[in-house]
Amino acid sequence: MRDYTGKTAVVTGGASGVGRCLCELFAREGMHVVMADVEAGALEASAAALRAEGLDVVGMRCDVTSPESMQALADTVVASFGKVHVLCNNAGVGIKEAQRRIWTLTPNDWTWGFNVNVMGVANGIRAFVPAMLAHGEPGHVVNTSSGNGGLTSMPTTPVYAASKAAVTSLTEVLHYQFLMDRAALQAHVLFPGPHLVNTNILSAMRNRPAELRDEDAPVAYTTMRDLATASGIRNLELTEPEEVAASCLQGMRENRFWILPASTAQDARISRRTRSILDRENPVLPE
Ligand SMILES: NC(=O)c1ccc[n+]([C@@H]2O[C@H](COP(=O)([O-])OP(=O)(O)OC[C@H]3O[C@@H](n4cnc5c(N)ncnc54)[C@H](O)[C@@H]3O)[C@@H](O)[C@H]2O)c1
Repeated sequence: MRDYTGKTAVVTGGASGVGRCLCELFAREGMHVVMADVEAGALEASAAALRAEGLDVVGMRCDVTSPESMQALADTVVASFGKVHVLCNNAGVGIKEAQRRIWTLTPNDWTWGFNVNVMGVANGIRAFVPAMLAHGEPGHVVNTSSGNGGLTSMPTTPVYAASKAAVTSLTEVLHYQFLMDRAALQAHVLFPGPHLVNTNILSAMRNRPAELRDEDAPVAYTTMRDLATASGIRNLELTEPEEVAASCLQGMRENRFWILPASTAQDARISRRTRSILDRENPVLPE
């Protein structure tokens, strides 16, 4: 799709970071934008800030982990705007597992990480795609993965990497099934980057449900800059979320499945992983 004027977009995780920037960019393209998020206060503030700039956005609270909440969101959006053309299943969390061994993670760590990062995407697809197929017009389903897990796995973040591997995989299946059904919809998998993206993901605990909290390891940082200081990284390179949104829109315009930033470091990791599979050699620790 090239002309987005007057179309409707729904972005989960729309209150913050990459999601908020996607909402702003889509609204500047002339779309009606539904900013969907679990965090009511941040959602209200972000939607109000964009509306103050004259943009056509509305905030709707949802919890991507709940099929009922996502279906209620889809019903409300269709009742308000008719057709949805762009769905970004973008809400995601990091569970503060950095440097923990996989065998020390709790059942609640796994449940929360997979509920948001994987079931959130599945629930978005279940709630919105049937109506997007039914109206028959071109559209996009963009699922936010991560280079970490979605392409190659870092050894430091077991739940996050495994959940993002699932996002890449389920999006490939979605793409094949759209092709099999000759659907007018294009699936995309978005890899924010090429560096860590300057968002609020390191304070994702703010949205962790009380019933899934337990002996989470204390963390020394909640921002990317704090992370750099705690890890002794002097010149942390960060990507701004606006850049991710711009590359997402460009990938949508070009109907590209892999919305992947140029990165020689990442390309080298992908190549090493693929080589190890083809050569039946054991993987080596990533650099
Ligand atoms: N920041 C990075 O470096 C980076 C890198 C690769 C991928 N990503 C991915 O980008 C996506 C966006 O993350 P971000 O970095 O902008 O972080 P962020 O924390 O700034 O934004 C995430 C948003 O998701 C919302 N959210 C969390 N749980 C939710 C739920 N149950 N229901 C609805 N909304 C919920 C949060 O309230 C928040 O507004 C995530 O999928 C993340 O995994 C981020």
